[in-house]
Amino acid sequence: MEYVKVYRVTKRYGEFTAVDNLSFTVNKGEIFGFLGPNGAGKTTTLNVLSTLSDFDGGEVEIAGYALPKQEFSVKRILGLVPQEIALYMDLTAQENVTMFASLYGLSGAALRAAVDEALAFVGLADEAKKRVKKMSGGQQRRLNIACGIAHGPELIIMDEPTVGVDARSRELIMGSIRTLNERGATIIYTSHYMPEVQELADRIAIIDHGRLAGIGTEEELLEHVTDRKTLRIGVDDKNAVFLSKGVEGKSDVILREVAESSKNLLEQISRLPGVKHAAFSDGQLRVDVDLTLPSISPILGVLMERGVAVKSLAEEAPTLETTFLALTGNELTKEGA
Ligand SMILES: Nc1ncnc2c1ncn2[C@@H]1O[C@H](COP(=O)(O)OP(=O)(O)OP(=O)(O)O)[C@@H](O)[C@H]1O
Ligand SMILES: [Mg+2]
Repeated sequence: MEYVKVYRVTKRYGEFTAVDNLSFTVNKGEIFGFLGPNGAGKTTTLNVLSTLSDFDGGEVEIAGYALPKQEFSVKRILGLVPQEIALYMDLTAQENVTMFASLYGLSGAALRAAVDEALAFVGLADEAKKRVKKMSGGQQRRLNIACGIAHGPELIIMDEPTVGVDARSRELIMGSIRTLNERGATIIYTSHYMPEVQELADRIAIIDHGRLAGIGTEEELLEHVTDRKTLRIGVDDKNAVFLSKGVEGKSDVILREVAESSKNLLEQISRLPGVKHAAFSDGQLRVDVDLTLPSISPILGVLMERGVAVKSLAEEAPTLETTFLALTGNELTKEGA
């Protein structure tokens, strides 16, 4: 059953179009993942759905209620976990959740039970009396989630709920999302961490420049890239310096040269026939090529010419990352980058 319907929605900030004629639907009971590079319009879209933002054109319907007209009905069934942590720093964890849950009309014993349950749910039962300002970043993230879900919403919108948390917190948050879904909540969430979306989401929308670039199950999205494969080429440590992200813009002259030279190398490889894309990723050179590429000699030739020693070579089938790249032309920004 189509539960959330977004039809040709546009949102502008002045002259700038942040969401451009965007259409998609989310089924009831689904975990729906939203993937897109920085600035793609994910938060803007989620803000429209959660009634925080108005929109300039198109239609939005949630659980049969149309926005903006039936905003209050939508608000009642909705829980939002915002990208920016929205907590009262001087209050305790428990006081924060109480405040949010009471806004949704809970009171008395039901409110206390809901608050305790939400705190336990995100693994913060022992921190209930701790002031937010004394909590770690990961604990604050989890509290941010508790505040969005304590009132038992049937639609939960989570904007980057795992950003900046360690592996243990991430696992805990992922487990919570799954449990909320098993209990019947429909969940829409964004993440910069592709494996997480792959693991959790029933369907995924890829958005770029405010537009829908692709939508479907992982399997369906992979159909966009059946014409290619990925070569992973391990290079020696010296050249692995090229891989260091974020060197551009730094004042260090040598690092700048390294970055420049690495860019040239990637461009040179990208221009070879049959090569679709070349990038450094996870300490390796990653080259997406046509399935029909007759030989990889030209690629190895470029590396040899530049004195880059090849340590390993592996071939792999397309992944969601390949699809993302093919549909948006960019790699998804790595977490924390
Ligand atoms: N209040 C605003 N005023 C003007 N421009 C805005 C405003 N909010 C967002 N934008 C712009 O709209 C675009 C989409 O922003 P949005 O926050 O929706 O992206 P996002 O996909 O959530 O990115 P991120 O991955 O960085 O969270 C960006 O170019 C951003 O600069
Ligand atoms: Mg965002």
